[in-house]
Amino acid sequence: EKGGFEHFMIKEIHEQPKAIKDTMTSRIMADCDEIKLDDIKLTSEQLKNIDRIYIVACGTAYHAGMVGKYVIEKLAKIPVEVDIASEFRYRDPIINEKTLMIVVSQSGETADTLAALKQAKSKGARVIAVTNVVGSSVAREADDVLYTWAGPEIAVASTKAYVTQLIAMYIIALYLARLNGNISVEEYRQIRDEMLTLPEKSQEVLDQKEELQKFAASNYMHKDIYYIGRGLDFAVALEGSLKLKEISYIHSDAYAAGELKHGSIALIEKGVPVIALASQSELYDKMVSNIKEIVSRGAKVIGFAFEGNSEIEKTVNQAVYIPKTLDILAPVLLVIPLQLLAYYTAVEKGCDVDKPRNLAKSVTVE
Ligand code: M6R
Repeated sequence: EKGGFEHFMIKEIHEQPKAIKDTMTSRIMADCDEIKLDDIKLTSEQLKNIDRIYIVACGTAYHAGMVGKYVIEKLAKIPVEVDIASEFRYRDPIINEKTLMIVVSQSGETADTLAALKQAKSKGARVIAVTNVVGSSVAREADDVLYTWAGPEIAVASTKAYVTQLIAMYIIALYLARLNGNISVEEYRQIRDEMLTLPEKSQEVLDQKEELQKFAASNYMHKDIYYIGRGLDFAVALEGSLKLKEISYIHSDAYAAGELKHGSIALIEKGVPVIALASQSELYDKMVSNIKEIVSRGAKVIGFAFEGNSEIEKTVNQAVYIPKTLDILAPVLLVIPLQLLAYYTAVEKGCDVDKPRNLAKSVTVE
């Protein structure tokens, strides 16, 4: 059942090219200028009435939501707030019939996410559910559904569900942006064509796994490992850090790189490993100077960037490259090496990768 792999997690990591492809199938198609979404009935008239979007989720799904905020605001130009479901419910959020809520949940059964959905519905909001389980509670309660076609995810640490949630975020962002006319057909085509290359490019990233295995083998004994990034890279840094702590029990945090100097940089000492994500072109130079700041304080940095952006090599201890794509799509490719890093680190430590201590696959208590 593990298809020749040692753990479900590594099997599921390898299933990502297919999961990405399946989630786009019949929705985003080459030579078709329309996005087809069977279970989303929101009309352009209804969208005109929407003045804010909340994306609500927990854990990894929340990290996908952070990417969602960025791309929806960028493409559809509608203000988006992202909230952790267990916080959203108790902060008395402003919800009315002008609110669109997007809930993201692999299982569709997470108690806090479901409760936030019900709260929003009772106050008149329209709800789109992004879930991996057909007929799950969130799918049943929502007005519209966008299924991620990741297939069953067994490992507690979410991997293929996350990348398909990212694809769902792009699909929703593009759908809304076409519906309210904020992007042209030409802009749509450019993003669509690039999205269609992601299955192949994600396979190329998987093919670099030995490099990450080596890094894990020489760093698994560390007590703290930090992740830094700016913009979308920060959202991916949070996900990479969660993956590591969840399965390897190594203490880890992710920081917005520009925020380091406001406190967290005090943690950097000689030999501490830092994973630095530098995919975003507008932020690349800023990232390089943030990396210099921590290297000069002794950090051992592994830097991630697009192929061709080799400037980081002058500063970092090791560089890992991902295939070139649009900046907004980088999270899909960038998260894969971070999943591999977490996986190999946990394996080196002899941890129970698929069933980490204290955790359950689906959290159905509040
Ligand atoms: O089923 P859900 O997507 O609602 O689950 C949300 C979180 O519990 C989940 O993503 C959790 O953070 C994962 N174990 C992370 O790998």
